[in-house]
Amino acid sequence: MSTSSFVIAGALVVALLAPAEAPPPQAQAPAANATVLDYEVFKTRVQPILMARRKGNARCTACHSRGGGNAYLEPLAPGSAAYTEEQTRRNFERVQRLVVPGEPLKSPLLVNPLAEEAGGSHWHGGGKHWRSQDDPEWRILAAWVRGGPA
Ligand code: HEC
Repeated sequence: MSTSSFVIAGALVVALLAPAEAPPPQAQAPAANATVLDYEVFKTRVQPILMARRKGNARCTACHSRGGGNAYLEPLAPGSAAYTEEQTRRNFERVQRLVVPGEPLKSPLLVNPLAEEAGGSHWHGGGKHWRSQDDPEWRILAAWVRGGPA
């Protein structure tokens, strides 16, 4: 049996025609489809989840507001059940480092407490709080990260 092979050699010519002048500085607009995390949604929907009491597990705030490397939430003032506006702002700033806008499954905040079978991380020192991506809490967080309505 004989084999014949055909080699097609293609040459690609890329002609770069440089523009005659540089674009004006105003042309540098921010990325058109950048996802922006909504502060109001964080305050009214997301932060309450991080503070909520849970059956069989501690609250996120219980472990993540105590200082040290894992702290991304403010400690609540003794006797207080709610964050002040200023504390909420700081929580918002810090939580953003644990979130990839538009990408819930790349966001440690959503992936760490999510069961591994459901797409979560292999390990979270604080245990798994959500068994599936259909968990109502998880859905609220995901909607916030995607930038859609919670
Ligand atoms: C019992 C304590 C505990 C609880 C409750 C807890 N965590 Fe954690 N969490 C840890 C520890 C310990 C680590 C560090 C080790 C690791 O990454 O697993 C961690 C790590 C994390 C990280 C990574 C932090 C970083 O800086 O990279 C995120 C995000 C996180 N947890 C989110 C949550 C969320 C959201 C909740 C509530 C649904 C929660 N955790 C509840 C103990 C806890």
